[in-house]
Amino acid sequence: MSAAEPSSSRVALSGRRLLTFALALALAPVLLAGCESGESMPVTTDAAPRADIPFPEDWRFSADAEPVTAAEGMVSTTDYYATRVGLDVLEAGGTAMDAAIAVSFALAVVNPAAGNIGGGGFMVTRLADGQTSALDYREKAPAAAHRDMYLDEDGELTDRSILGHLASGVPGTVMGMWEAHQRYGTLSWEELVQPAIELAEGFEVRDRLARSLRSSRRSLAIYESTREVFLPDGEPPEVGDTFRQPDLARTLTRIRDQGPDGFYRGETADLIVAEMERGGGIISHQDLADYETAWRDPVTFTYRGYTITSMPPSSSGGATMALMAHILEKHDLAALGWHSDDMIHLMVEAWKRAYADRNQVLADPDYVDIPLEEMLSRDYARIRGADITPDRATPSDDIGPGLEVGESTETTHYSIVDRHGNAVAVTTTINSGYGSKVTVAGAGFLLNNEMDDFAAKPGFPNQFGLVQGEQNAIEPGKRMLSAMTPTVVADPDGELFFVTGTPGGSTIITTTFQTIVNVVDFGMNVSQSVNAPRVHHQHLPDQIYFENSGLRSAVVEALEARGHTLQERGGTSGDVQAIMILPDGTRAAHSDPRLGGTALGH
Ligand code: GLY
Repeated sequence: MSAAEPSSSRVALSGRRLLTFALALALAPVLLAGCESGESMPVTTDAAPRADIPFPEDWRFSADAEPVTAAEGMVSTTDYYATRVGLDVLEAGGTAMDAAIAVSFALAVVNPAAGNIGGGGFMVTRLADGQTSALDYREKAPAAAHRDMYLDEDGELTDRSILGHLASGVPGTVMGMWEAHQRYGTLSWEELVQPAIELAEGFEVRDRLARSLRSSRRSLAIYESTREVFLPDGEPPEVGDTFRQPDLARTLTRIRDQGPDGFYRGETADLIVAEMERGGGIISHQDLADYETAWRDPVTFTYRGYTITSMPPSSSGGATMALMAHILEKHDLAALGWHSDDMIHLMVEAWKRAYADRNQVLADPDYVDIPLEEMLSRDYARIRGADITPDRATPSDDIGPGLEVGESTETTHYSIVDRHGNAVAVTTTINSGYGSKVTVAGAGFLLNNEMDDFAAKPGFPNQFGLVQGEQNAIEPGKRMLSAMTPTVVADPDGELFFVTGTPGGSTIITTTFQTIVNVVDFGMNVSQSVNAPRVHHQHLPDQIYFENSGLRSAVVEALEARGHTLQERGGTSGDVQAIMILPDGTRAAHSDPRLGGTALGH
C-alpha cells in the first residue's frame, strides 16, 4: 500500500470525546427520523449456493464449490497437517478447545510464516450453552521499549520495527495456549503438544509450504539462524522432501514437559535472550517471566438479528466491525444487489468512518482510556453514518475521528466446532510473513515483528498503510493494537451459526465482515461466502482495494463516477477459514482456496 501524508483532520483533540458523544445523542432523534429498523428478516442459508449471485467472469474461484460437511466436528485451517491434528483430537474425544491448542502448536511447525510460538494471538470461544469468552495473548512491548525507538536521529522512521531483533514483542502464544488449557482443557497438555513434536521431527512438504518458502527465499536468507532452518543446503525444501526441525522439536518437548516454564524460563528463555544479545534486541529474562495473558469480555453485538461475538481490544477487530455493522444496518444491502456499485459504495463509506475511529481511538485498554462503549453504541453509529450520501464518496480527509479521547499480510486463522456445539475461532500471527525473519538459534522458532503494529511514529503509516494515533504509541509492557477478528455468530434463535476469521493485516476486519454480510444479507452458502471476491477500504489511504479480476469494470467505473479511487491488487486478499452450522446441525466448512488450506470433519 502506498504511504499517506497526515492531515489536520486526523489530529485528535483530547478531552472532546464525551462532548462529541453527548452531541450525537442529542441529535439522534432528529437524524433517526426516516431511518429503517436495524433488524430485518434473516435470509435462510443452507448448503446450496445462491444461483442468482454470479461472480465476475474472470474471477478465479467458483461460486458453486461444495463445502466439506460432517455430522459432528469440523476443523478448518490453512494447512492439511494442522487440520489433521485438530481432527485427530476431536476424534479422540477432545473438545474444540483441546483441538484449538493442538492446532496452534502444529501450525507453529507446518506453517512457519504465521503459525508460531514466537508470536501471539486471540481466541474467541462460544460454548455449547452459549457462554462466550475472549482470550488475549497478544505480544507485549519489552520493558526497555520506548516511544521513539524506531526513529533515526532526524526523527524519520526506520525499518527496525519490521526487520530484525528489535522488531519483536514478548511472545504470548505458549502462555495463551496454557491459559486456554487451564480453563477449558479436557485432554492432557502433553497429548495436545505431542503431535507438533512429531511433526517437527519430520514431515513431508506439501505444495502450500513449498510455495510459501520459495516466495520468501530472499528474506529467509538474511539471518544465519533462519537460513539454517529454512534453507538447508541453501534452498528451501521442495514438495515431497522431509522437512526436519530438530531444535524446534526440542523446544516443544520442553513446553510439553514443563508447560509455560518450558518457554518463558530455563533453556528456551536463555536461548531467546542470547539471540537478543547477538542481534541488538531488548527482550529480557524479566520480560519473559512477566508475560501474562488477559481474559476479556468479548465484543458482542447484533446485526440483522444475528448475534456476533468477536475480539475486544487489544484487537480492534470486534469494535470496528460492530461500528460498520451498525452503520450499515439501516440500509437494505440485499435489495441493492451483491457487489453492485450501490452496495460497495455504502460498505466503503461505513468502513472509512469505522477505520477513522479505529485508527485514532483504539489501543491497549490496560494502558489507555478507550471509548469502547460509544464505539459499540447504535446511537453513535447512526450519527457516524448520517452524512453518508448515496451518490457521492466522502473524501477520507473530510472524515476525522468521530470519537476522541482524553499481516506481506501473513497471519493465520482457524475455526473449529466439536460434536457438542462448542466453537473456537483463533487468529494468531508473527505479523509479517516469517515475522522479524529472526530464528532463535538453538530453539528453532521465528520471532514476531509485532512492534510494527504500534504507531512507531503516530500519524504516519505502518507496513499496512494504517495511520494510527497517539493512543497506540509504544510504551513498555503495552500491547500493540491488532486488527485480528476471530468471530462466532449465533442465529436469531441463539443457535451457533457461523465461525469465521482471516489473516490479512489491515484487511482482516473488512474481510471477516464481508463473509458475514455474504451469509446474513445474501444467503450465500459457506463456500460461496469464502470464494467471493473481496473489497477493502481503511480510511487512509483513500482507496478502495479490490482483488485481481474481482470487480466488473462497469462497477469500477460507476464507483469512480461517484468520486471513489480504486486500486486492483496484484493478488488476493485473506485466507478465511469458515464453518457454518446448517439447519439440521450439519457442519459445513470451506477453507479458503486463496492459500490452499484444508477443512476436515467427522
Ligand atoms: N499483525 C496484524 C494484526 O495484528 O492486525
